[in-house]
Amino acid sequence: METPNFNELIDRRGSHCCKWDSCTDPDVIPLWIADMDYRAAEPIRRALQRRMDHGVFGYSCVPDEFYEAAIEWFRKYHGWTISREWMLYTTGVVPAISATIKALAAPGEKVLVQTPVYNCFFSSIRNQGCQVEMSPLAYLTNTEADGGQPTYAVDWEDFERRCADPAVKLFLLCNPHNPAGRVWTRGELERMAEVCLRHGVTILADEIHCEMVYPGHDYTPIASISEACRKACVTFLSPSKSFNIAGLQVADIICDNAEWRQRIDRAINQHETCDLNPFAVEAQIAAYTEGRPWIEQMNAHHWENYQLLLRFFRERLPKLPVTRLEGTYLPWVNITSTGETADELCERLLHDAKVRLNPGTMYGPEGKDFIRINIACPQARLQEALERIAPHL
Ligand SMILES: Cc1ncc(COP(=O)(O)O)c(C=O)c1O
Repeated sequence: METPNFNELIDRRGSHCCKWDSCTDPDVIPLWIADMDYRAAEPIRRALQRRMDHGVFGYSCVPDEFYEAAIEWFRKYHGWTISREWMLYTTGVVPAISATIKALAAPGEKVLVQTPVYNCFFSSIRNQGCQVEMSPLAYLTNTEADGGQPTYAVDWEDFERRCADPAVKLFLLCNPHNPAGRVWTRGELERMAEVCLRHGVTILADEIHCEMVYPGHDYTPIASISEACRKACVTFLSPSKSFNIAGLQVADIICDNAEWRQRIDRAINQHETCDLNPFAVEAQIAAYTEGRPWIEQMNAHHWENYQLLLRFFRERLPKLPVTRLEGTYLPWVNITSTGETADELCERLLHDAKVRLNPGTMYGPEGKDFIRINIACPQARLQEALERIAPHL
């Protein structure tokens, strides 16, 4: 099998890719939207090529292997036994979340999120006529571990208070958390689940980032904690983020509650997102059956990139603390010392440094003093982007 080269500089411009081709200035280095500048794993490319060579691209159906590949992957690598009957599929995690909110909450009811959090959570909730209830994560700056890097924790009093609000029907968890960088521990997940169960709040767990976890941290599927938790929970999974095949649009919904599943299935149909494209089917099967070595190598590369970024900020930009990154490839940097808002700063970095980053404001009010940097690229590209932004910070 081919050894992936994550340091190969692949020119993505002109491939109609959102990350690069939506930057009108061709000199910009885009470290924003969460996809990676690498080719997909060889087994996935081979499977797609086979399908491509067949040449007929009518409507597809989803074979048993599609489910079996995911079931085996989660059993083998995450110790979680999923039943085939609990599974549904749709065209992405965001469509899955939207359909599930539609199915399980009535317009006007509240969905709890832990801010700062992935921006589409806000739109998915509001698009179903529901209200966003925010429980801000506590930003901890006096941490002993990792040389005092800041990190996030749940504000348990706040979380409990909001779950106790009878209008809060759903808790939309992000595990691992984008952009806070946390891989929630089993203990934290148990406590979140305990609070939710006590108040009759259903957990929607977006676990799309679950393969991207760094040494010393373990991903725990919240539904695997206990049977009671699994029954109060809907989980969203996908090979899209971890295998860099987001454009193929596929997601798996795991729900051990037949009545909810039926309602979710109905909502998926109402949203007209019930058919996968033929490439998505092949890609999921190949990713979950043959993709393990690629994931391990990708994580090792991102760990090195993260170390490079950390060293750079410590040496050259010590007034900008980098939040501890336990998972994802999206470091979260505190820019308070610049005196600018994240929006102003990102605009300036785009024009003056020619680097595109995500302003923290996208992820809720608590993000206004932060920027998010996507490090899923060759090391030389990351180094160049950091060199470009440093004089402007
Ligand atoms: C937490 C989270 N959920 C979902 C998505 C997108 O999922 P999809 O492209 O399958 O809709 C992202 C993309 O960055 C994400 O970070």
